[in-house]
Amino acid sequence: MSRILKGRWALVTGSSRGIGQQIALGLARHGANVVVHGRTEKNTDSTRQLLAPMDVEVRTVYGTFDTESGSQDVVHQTLSQIPRIDILYGNHGVQNDWKDVFDITHKEWADIFQINFFSMVTLCNGLLPQMIENGFGRVVLTTSGIPDIPQLTPYGCTKKSIDKYVFDMSAQLRNTGVTIHSMDPGWLRTDLGGPNGMFPVEAVLPGALVPVITDVLESGSVFCAQNYRGL
Ligand SMILES: NC(=O)c1ccc[n+]([C@@H]2O[C@H](COP(=O)([O-])OP(=O)(O)OC[C@H]3O[C@@H](n4cnc5c(N)ncnc54)[C@H](OP(=O)(O)O)[C@@H]3O)[C@@H](O)[C@H]2O)c1
Repeated sequence: MSRILKGRWALVTGSSRGIGQQIALGLARHGANVVVHGRTEKNTDSTRQLLAPMDVEVRTVYGTFDTESGSQDVVHQTLSQIPRIDILYGNHGVQNDWKDVFDITHKEWADIFQINFFSMVTLCNGLLPQMIENGFGRVVLTTSGIPDIPQLTPYGCTKKSIDKYVFDMSAQLRNTGVTIHSMDPGWLRTDLGGPNGMFPVEAVLPGALVPVITDVLESGSVFCAQNYRGL
């Protein structure tokens, strides 16, 4: 049986396009109000247009996760509009430039860890205490099942860090009503996934919603959205 999300508010980072846009639409179909995020306000236009005919409320936050202060600003924009966020999808992400692993600079490693991982910690630090206080929260961070590709090791390491963070945080969140999961979307045809991805971007649904609309997955676990195709 799926949970009704009517009246719940969800922040979906990186929902201006790609996987995050699909998640925003999926949540709205289940009745959730959505805070859309992109690097600029303009970038959120297409998602807001897609959500407009749906019977939900929509807000926008924008900015990059390239710095700690930028990440905190997205949290502040969110809380100043919607004091109670019930659902967080930390979904934004970038891949590092393709190059020999020995040529990847310290700065490139640090930059991708800031965008893909440290920003998730900032989002969780900003939004989870209130979920705990409210006794309800659903947190899903987007990981990757990327195999051993040395040229993309920084990207892969940020995703494995997310998995470990989620696992450890699930212990912190035990008995609070707040759950946390890592979601591997599968290889999808998006700007990041490229044209050779195995599945169209729409195939991230309904799987990506499973830990939010059901309680079948143990908190702290990594799951693959593609395992729920045709649900
Ligand atoms: N596609 C795949 O096959 C695949 C596989 C495994 C995991 N993933 C993960 O799924 C997530 C979404 O990927 P996608 O394929 O949908 O990518 P995408 O189409 O390239 O979309 C990326 C999203 O992240 C936002 N973003 C990019 N850089 C940002 C930054 N520096 N600060 C803040 N936001 C930023 C973008 O905002 P703008 O539109 O404003 O640029 C956009 O909304 C990522 O975490 C990715 O690692 C994807």
